[in-house]
Amino acid sequence: MNTQIWDPARYRRDAGFVAALGAPLLTLLAPGADERILDLGCGDGTLTQQLVASGATVVAVDASAEQIAAARALGLDAQVVDGHALPFQREFDAVFSNAALHWMLKPTAVVAGIARALKLGGRFVAEMGGYGNVASVVTAFEHELARAGIDATKHNPWYFPTPAAYSALLEAAGFEVLAIDLFQRPTPLPGDVVDWLQLMAQTFTAAVPKADQPELIARVRHRLEPTALRQDGVWELDYVRLRVHARLIADVA
Ligand code: BEZ
Repeated sequence: MNTQIWDPARYRRDAGFVAALGAPLLTLLAPGADERILDLGCGDGTLTQQLVASGATVVAVDASAEQIAAARALGLDAQVVDGHALPFQREFDAVFSNAALHWMLKPTAVVAGIARALKLGGRFVAEMGGYGNVASVVTAFEHELARAGIDATKHNPWYFPTPAAYSALLEAAGFEVLAIDLFQRPTPLPGDVVDWLQLMAQTFTAAVPKADQPELIARVRHRLEPTALRQDGVWELDYVRLRVHARLIADVA
């Protein structure tokens, strides 16, 4: 079960870099002023605002009611929608998504919804965690939960596909893949890794009783320290991105 809860203020403090690092994706999208764009997994709406600034008409969706409230407070057209059940039909010129798709564990349903939402010829521009993303964190939870007799794979909230696997999903849904790139992007954190773990890894942490969670997090921090704590005192995680540019060429729905 995904037990992740988003606090927009905390997200901005501990993960504000997510939107900042999304700028190249906006360049790849190159939104036109006359376009209608779906921002899938908009979070607090920081990047959505930049899409709107290009003149495009943007509909923003996210599964978190808290994040959607924050996005609406910015004046955005934002709705609570589960990415596995997108309700749109052939109405968008582009679907854009930054750092959201890896939270959606049924990617076939997600990709089918994206294909349905696009007009034929429409484009899909997205970035997500790719194969090997934050492997240090996943491995640390696997080891520490195993000590408690818990199989961490049942509590992993993330989907980090290979380019081949994600291309196959896209092609089966009627897309032509124009580019799909997996690349390492070591990412410095703004504070201690504990803040990041408490924000991003709630589903792993919730595998143990509440009283045991501080110790679990401390143990994971200890495991990460040799590889993720830099000499200058900055924590840096082993992010790997999958960047996708595709075009809908067939109606296979
Ligand atoms: C990411 O954006 O790659 C990411 C976000 C949350 C947890 C792990 C990875």
